[in-house]
Amino acid sequence: MNKLNDLAISATDLNDIDSNASQDNHFNSILNARLSRRNWLRGSAVTAATAVMGSMGLSACGGGSDAAAVTPTPEKLLAFTAVPKSLADVVSVPAGYTATALYALGDSLRAATPAYKNDGSDTDFDNRAGDHHDGMEYYGLSAAGAPLASGAERGLLAMNHEATTDEKLSSHFLHVNGGTTSLPRPAAEVDKEVAVHGLSVVEVKKTGSAWATVNNSVFNRRVTPLTDIEIAGPVRGNALVVTKYSPTGTKTRGTINNCGTGKSPWGSYLSGEENWAGYFTRSATDNAARGDKSVASLNRYGRSQGGASRHGWETGGSDDKYARWNLSKIGASNNGSDDYRNELNGMGYIVEMDPYDKTRAISKRTALGRYAHESAAFSVPTVGQQLAVYMGDDSRNEYIYKFVTTAVWAAADANPADRMATGDKYLDSGKLYVAKLAADGTGQWIELAMSNALIQAYSAYKFADLADVLVNARLAADAVGATKMDRPEWCSVNPANGEIYYTLTNNSNRTVNPSGSSQLAPDSANPRAYTDMKGSSAQNGNPNGHIIRFKEGTGAAAATSFTWDVYLFGAESGADASKINLSNLTADQDFSSPDGLAFSPYTGICWIQTDDGAYTDVTNCMMLAAIPGKVGDGAKSTLNYATAAGGNLAVDTFIGKKPTADTLKRFLVGPVGSEITGISETPDGKTMFINIQHPGENTALANIGDPSKYTSQWPANTGYGAGKRPRSATIVITKNDGGRIGS
Ligand code: FEO
Ligand code: CA
Ligand code: CA
Ligand code: CA
Repeated sequence: MNKLNDLAISATDLNDIDSNASQDNHFNSILNARLSRRNWLRGSAVTAATAVMGSMGLSACGGGSDAAAVTPTPEKLLAFTAVPKSLADVVSVPAGYTATALYALGDSLRAATPAYKNDGSDTDFDNRAGDHHDGMEYYGLSAAGAPLASGAERGLLAMNHEATTDEKLSSHFLHVNGGTTSLPRPAAEVDKEVAVHGLSVVEVKKTGSAWATVNNSVFNRRVTPLTDIEIAGPVRGNALVVTKYSPTGTKTRGTINNCGTGKSPWGSYLSGEENWAGYFTRSATDNAARGDKSVASLNRYGRSQGGASRHGWETGGSDDKYARWNLSKIGASNNGSDDYRNELNGMGYIVEMDPYDKTRAISKRTALGRYAHESAAFSVPTVGQQLAVYMGDDSRNEYIYKFVTTAVWAAADANPADRMATGDKYLDSGKLYVAKLAADGTGQWIELAMSNALIQAYSAYKFADLADVLVNARLAADAVGATKMDRPEWCSVNPANGEIYYTLTNNSNRTVNPSGSSQLAPDSANPRAYTDMKGSSAQNGNPNGHIIRFKEGTGAAAATSFTWDVYLFGAESGADASKINLSNLTADQDFSSPDGLAFSPYTGICWIQTDDGAYTDVTNCMMLAAIPGKVGDGAKSTLNYATAAGGNLAVDTFIGKKPTADTLKRFLVGPVGSEITGISETPDGKTMFINIQHPGENTALANIGDPSKYTSQWPANTGYGAGKRPRSATIVITKNDGGRIGS
């Protein structure tokens, strides 16, 4: 979603809910700890090494049987001509590449479900592609249709359907006349809107040089906010997740607002539940009705009493499937088994699905903590060692986390007989850590556990047990003084060296002169606070975002310390290079609000995607290809800010080696109003699938009857499908000479 979009801010800007009012160390207190860091690692010639290292990373990262699929090739990466910034309503890719829409909102997954008319009259969304395609992973099939990780011409795309384009409650493109914008919402509208959320799995197949989806494939699957899902890990059976739907606290209904993804080393699909809180309502008198610590939890997770739900789905009727969207304590029970007072505790997890088997139940992996999840990125698996899963919490001033498995990696688990059982083994037992970054370029991973004295003594919330710590991970992280970041979005591990990259998309609450509990001064890891003009409108804080990276210390995946630097700062190429454009981005490289980020396990390229509202007066959102160096390849720098009191605020930071034309280049620009997301490739590196999310999202509901006033008509304007309403869609990118993507 476009977080800086003024038109849609109240309805869709759920990331901007600022729920972190904790006063703990966000590093202002150590701003002046000017310890010089002498062990900066030297840069290396990664450009030359990456083509080789990329294929090495394949077997480590993508599952065992991928290894034979790729042989090192001598091609030069990033040899394409950079794509210029653009406001055109098309997908632009470099000369020599082709991008084609493949799978759009409403596309039929079943023979019995008719083609999408795209005029608001369609129904049966349980058997169609969902909306707002987001994170996505590719799972290979053999020519005969059996699971085969190395399968590069037939496979499955598993993806998230994060949200739906809306204005005043209604998802207007889904309804003939834009739908009902007041309460109560009609059941038929609610049912459609609910069903476009969740996950989908769709088979894709290459015939000749053309890719197409396979209608009615036995693998095709929809998961929605009504699908029965297991609660797995330490929270399973806990009193915090007892509901009318599951009085034993072992199940929850559905998954929602699924954003980033992960692909486990055992071949399962991981999905992060992000802005789930906003779909639920709470009565204006619910605090008094509860009168317990659950009020502090609800407030910390963005559901203060009286909060209206995004779509008003709780008003769809008397059926339980509508009632579940109301979190108010209305039942007489002591434990919540007769209402949905605890329903929010069943949302906010990393969800695991076997993409190859639609008969298997999906599990919420509660050991990884509950927050606004994005992606889940695994450390490079090493036999006999623990795995780490890196994650972020995307709201302003939230935290970076990692989970370390109890189990050590076994090579046989790269091709397990039972992927979900393997998920039980690695993801239901382990330790959850939160990151605390210091001004000297080091950092600590702090375990969130009852054994931590700061958690035991926390005055704002009394934790009962580990399950309570995991359900209220934000509060536990507050208690231990974790570092508040500029909205952590996706993360990914560089297969060449194991370093971890996090996009920090932007933060309108960074300011040199903070007031109130939600504003923060710039600090070493979030060092910029400035003004970027969008036309005549000033955007303050860190409107363009940055990308931070970590190198684990002793213990690798299980390390409790790390070093860090800032790989790239988003900026306009013309911005002040001493204060804003700190990475010296050129016109072929400049970007704003990095969001999706993933290393290709096949080429080693780091793909960076944007979800921007700051630079969109000049360009639509984009995807860039990068060949980064490593932590410490740049230099320490000090940013000086004049304070309102007349003093100087000096902020030390560590800026990665500045990119060259050979190491960072814009690869794609999307249609009007879209966000670029979802990074996945076939294991030969020759086909890339990405998602174009919410083209035309700024189209006013009042213009629903006049296609000429839609801000985008993509992908219909490329000849894809019926109607003219814009649709989120997966696109397939190939190189015309058959080469690998990014060469
Ligand atoms: Fe769904 Fe934080 O992006
Ligand atoms: Ca600007
Ligand atoms: Ca995102
Ligand atoms: Ca975003």
